[in-house]
Amino acid sequence: MAGVLSDEQIEQFHRDGFAVVTDMVGPEQRRQLMERAVAIVDEWQPTGAQTVFTTQEQERTSNREFLSSGSNIWCFFEAEAFDEHGELRQAKHLSINKIGHAQHDLDPVFSAFTYTDDLAGAAADIGMTDALALQSMYIFKQPGIGGEVGCHQDGTFLYTDPLTVTGFWFALEDATLDNGCLWAAPGAHRAPLRKVFKRLGDDDAGTEFDVLDPTPLPDAPQDLVPLEVPAGTMVVLDGRLPHWSDVNRSGRSRHAYSLHCISAAADYPDWNWLQRPSDLPLRRLDRSDRA
Ligand code: FE2
Repeated sequence: MAGVLSDEQIEQFHRDGFAVVTDMVGPEQRRQLMERAVAIVDEWQPTGAQTVFTTQEQERTSNREFLSSGSNIWCFFEAEAFDEHGELRQAKHLSINKIGHAQHDLDPVFSAFTYTDDLAGAAADIGMTDALALQSMYIFKQPGIGGEVGCHQDGTFLYTDPLTVTGFWFALEDATLDNGCLWAAPGAHRAPLRKVFKRLGDDDAGTEFDVLDPTPLPDAPQDLVPLEVPAGTMVVLDGRLPHWSDVNRSGRSRHAYSLHCISAAADYPDWNWLQRPSDLPLRRLDRSDRA
């Protein structure tokens, strides 16, 4: 199934820690994903607390809804979605930060987009012939309030031994400097993983960071380069690559779908925040585990 990425793209991935693959998602596919995401938000009636996702105050992302979302489809609000009275400032579908984290297995539209020969082939091209689809996110980067995502390495949040997490990020709309495109530090994937994010027990027990290497991550944005890409582009990200995205103060959204895969041969510790129940096992991108 390999042969999806060009030699140049494979070389770029190993050299820079990321590869930019244009024209990976056609307009009709993008429209289907975007319509489905908005429908999920429209249908979503949160029970209990409305959950905000922000990378700035980590404790706010460590509640029960977050820690159980590895096997659910949950909508997380933008931190700036609410006014001082706790009311939404804008329509619900313009207030959601992201949908996560198992729609690739629980929603037929996202599942059909995720488990394809093209994506399995792209993974195989960079050496992941046994990729498991671990986590998906639909990221809205809403106009005006789309939150910053602090500089991080994905291996911090999805750890395996050895480290194998790889991100496949799809621009469903043009990603520009104005609307909060990805930024990355070319070559910095060769430095160590700095820290890991651990759950302390069950979904009510909270989380902590363990520092593995005290070397600071590159400063954003000055040590990073912007990845301005047109809609339809796939960016493949090494799990050690420091990356960041800015707040979106523009009037245009920047929708993206992001999938994180790990190698089936690697060990996935049970202290990872994302845990799946035995009745929802991880599945291989290449579908070789299906009858
Ligand atoms: Fe990331």
